[in-house]
Amino acid sequence: MKAKSIKSIAVMTGGGDCPGLNAVIRAVTKTAINKYGLEVWGIEDGFLGLIEDRIHILSYDEVSNILTVGGTILGSCSVANPFAYKMKVGKTVQAKDLSDKCIKALKSRNIDALICIGGDGTMTSAAGFAKKGLIVMGVPKTIDNDLYGTDITFGFDTAVTTATEAIDKVHTTASSHHRVMIVEVMGRYAGWIALHSGVASGSDVILLPEIPYRLDKICEFVLGRSKRGKRFSIIVVAEGAKEKGGRMVVKKKVTHSPDPIRLGGIANVLAGQIRKRTSLECRAIVLGHIQRGGTPTPFDRTLATSFGNMAIELLAKGVRGHLVVLKEGKLSSIALSRVAGKIKTVPRNHHLIQAAIAVGTSFGI
Ligand code: F6P
Repeated sequence: MKAKSIKSIAVMTGGGDCPGLNAVIRAVTKTAINKYGLEVWGIEDGFLGLIEDRIHILSYDEVSNILTVGGTILGSCSVANPFAYKMKVGKTVQAKDLSDKCIKALKSRNIDALICIGGDGTMTSAAGFAKKGLIVMGVPKTIDNDLYGTDITFGFDTAVTTATEAIDKVHTTASSHHRVMIVEVMGRYAGWIALHSGVASGSDVILLPEIPYRLDKICEFVLGRSKRGKRFSIIVVAEGAKEKGGRMVVKKKVTHSPDPIRLGGIANVLAGQIRKRTSLECRAIVLGHIQRGGTPTPFDRTLATSFGNMAIELLAKGVRGHLVVLKEGKLSSIALSRVAGKIKTVPRNHHLIQAAIAVGTSFGI
């Protein structure tokens, strides 16, 4: 590798898993070994493995035959923040900064650079390590597609495909039984999965966190369909959607997680409310973690491979502390410091919202 200092790298996968993680690990490791003769280490279970010093050499064999496999061979963890690691001290829980310990674990193995594959939480920590002088490169992962700085993250296409296939199946049974079916999809505070799967499945109502809905408008819309002889309706609701003036539905709080809020339950709430107001038969379906599993789509496999390869190429060129991104169809990178602490939500004027409205879809407003 031209950038003289780098002889050995480590790779980790942080946050919630998603399809395509293994494709990135494979691309990173094979490019590093084949093209630059680097030594590659794998950190187990994200930043938790770095904190607990669980790091092993990644062999060529270990990353063979994993391109199509969902999940991550390295394991992941969404609750370990190395800069504020929550641990029990006596009877209290305290947040400790273990970042120096993590850097030490890398240095003790002569690891020169760290490739962090993850979403916004992982990139915020990666930015922190970059600030401390560690050579870091980020790769944008998440089914939510909410990572700032990139037009798309790998994992998103597979999640949208899975959600669309599920909604298509719900469509036929909704039609047979003349029901209002409310399908809840993931996405945290962004409505990308709901918007894309809703449009792709021709859903009647799409509810996004970015567009607070009015219950009366939804009821009016499904009743109107009923009166016109369309005796069923499909509503796709993002887990983070909320009524105008209302609050998101929280499933639980994971207190030791950097982002403790786990959303979920809005579909059931809506089913009860719409049933009460319209007397139509309503059913709620929560797709949940199915959206994070399975083999990545060809699009995600190629995107993940390009991202992984680019991460090594950028390191070779001397780029430091950046996130690999896809912007307007081109691979490039952006400083992690510009990404940290931000998310990318659906803009109100997004072309898909306009197209959906034009074909008669309601956003509950
Ligand atoms: O960020 C990915 C994601 O699947 C979100 O869509 C969802 O809100 C969250 O993770 C669920 O987290 P957990 O797996 O911890 O329940």
